[in-house]
Amino acid sequence: MPDPAGAAAVVLPRFLSSPPPGWTAQADVLVVGSGIAGLTCALRLREHVDRVLLVTKTELSAGSTTWAQGGIAAALAPEDSPQEHLDDTLVAGGGLCDESAVEVLVTEGPARVRELISLGARFDTDESGAITLTREGGHHRDRIAHAGGDATGAEISRALIAQLEVVRADPGIEIIENALVVDLLTSAEGSVCGATVHVIGEGEIDGVGAARARAVVLATGGLGQIYSSTTNPPVTTGDGMAAALRAGAALADLEFVQFHPTVMHLGPGASGQQPLVSEAVRGEGAVLVDSTGEAFMADVHPMADLAPRDVVARAILARMEVTGTDHVFLDARALGGEFLQRRFPTIVARCRELGIDPVTEPIPVAPAQHYASGGVRTDLRGRTNLPGLYACGEVSCTGVHGANRLASNSLLEGLVFAHRIAEDLVARLAGGELPLVDASDEGSTSLLDAGHRDALQAMMTKGVGPLRSGESTSSVLASLHELAGTLSDAEPGPRSWEGTNLLHLGQALATAAHLREETRGGHVRRDHPDSDDEDWSAHLVHVRDPDDGELVVIKLDVDPTRPMPRSSS
Ligand code: SIN
Repeated sequence: MPDPAGAAAVVLPRFLSSPPPGWTAQADVLVVGSGIAGLTCALRLREHVDRVLLVTKTELSAGSTTWAQGGIAAALAPEDSPQEHLDDTLVAGGGLCDESAVEVLVTEGPARVRELISLGARFDTDESGAITLTREGGHHRDRIAHAGGDATGAEISRALIAQLEVVRADPGIEIIENALVVDLLTSAEGSVCGATVHVIGEGEIDGVGAARARAVVLATGGLGQIYSSTTNPPVTTGDGMAAALRAGAALADLEFVQFHPTVMHLGPGASGQQPLVSEAVRGEGAVLVDSTGEAFMADVHPMADLAPRDVVARAILARMEVTGTDHVFLDARALGGEFLQRRFPTIVARCRELGIDPVTEPIPVAPAQHYASGGVRTDLRGRTNLPGLYACGEVSCTGVHGANRLASNSLLEGLVFAHRIAEDLVARLAGGELPLVDASDEGSTSLLDAGHRDALQAMMTKGVGPLRSGESTSSVLASLHELAGTLSDAEPGPRSWEGTNLLHLGQALATAAHLREETRGGHVRRDHPDSDDEDWSAHLVHVRDPDDGELVVIKLDVDPTRPMPRSSS
């Protein structure tokens, strides 16, 4: 692709500045991240692989999985079918899903959810013991399994961590918490053979070290902290995605950022992680109303308040513009106090803590960043274009989500593809593939001073937030370029690494948002309000050129065989 008109080339370093490794660890497989994807993968690998090393940025339960409210989508009801789940996923994805990946998700999903239950996850059931299923935006069937009412992710995380605790003493698995991945290590031939990891620990494993492995599975979650407000927890600074990009992995669909329609509005200055009001609240009958109390979704889409998430978010933004306000309201009063407290205990408690009682008053809401539909591009086995590197969960782009993820498909994606990655790795390692090799390269770059983070988030929110234009995307590209020019000898450490990761991903995301001159899914261009199938039934893929560090953008047509920009080994 040509460079965005007038924009300077984006050049990324291979490595972030960091002290030389002071310790070394070695494993067959290094799993980075402890959400549903990382935990599932590590637990399965451990059954068959001699040595698994699981590292996670802070505590095991600190990632996005724990915050998932609505649930996990799977065709579990007798009247439902994988085909119907596939159809709904493809519609939400706006023509950019890879159908083969969606087929894997919907056909293998129900069995994986049943396995999760057999591992100890307790989903909500009716009096007969059958799992209670609900509906969310874009689904034509009740197919969302939930736990603790609106605490599904927390229950899944609890169950998987409990399994991990059972095997923690096993010499075949080592767990290191407070371990931030800085960069991926690669061999002279370009195979990924480990990572540099910064550990806030004690004893020998403290500070930056080298975790060497025959394969690395990235399960590091999303990049929500690139925006001023997000539903994502503080750890989501895109560390895995950025490290993969610098190492030469292909990233795709970055412009498709999902803005959740109903995030509690805490005032114009609110920043960081914001309280989510699950789509399941609308699934149970709550209705969006504007500042005059008028319900507006029925006029927008045949599925009204349960239209796909991007449609609802866009309708809210349009209504806010018409009424000159910065939020609308979600009116759940008709559901009744008893039902609301039983079905949504977390949301009711959080709203009350913040001074709103959803039983008696509408909840102020506005769209905020929620999910990265793009990420490190993988094939159906979770392999990336770099030998030895796998990606799973929100950090990955498996092709399942296309331009807009269907509600509650993310936990399922993490589960299904983690299982596939573990199977693929077990077979390859047993067959002698992916031998342990030495890391060849070194080098470093300057870092973004941690003090620039707020400015970067403000630029991203203004330029590539829920509504974009050629003008806003050019302006953010110019501002990011200027920010990149301020890179300094900032002290290497978690805040400067995170900030630099956000900058690198911001540059790639804004480039894609600038190039895609159409509106589709989570990418909304005011100056190109329609989808353009002729020119844009395609993915934008970013790869760092190893010779000069320039970020190259490749336009790949949607293809059911899901080709890689470079051959996958
Ligand atoms: C929600 O509960 O609305 C979020 C579910 C999801 O992001 O899939």
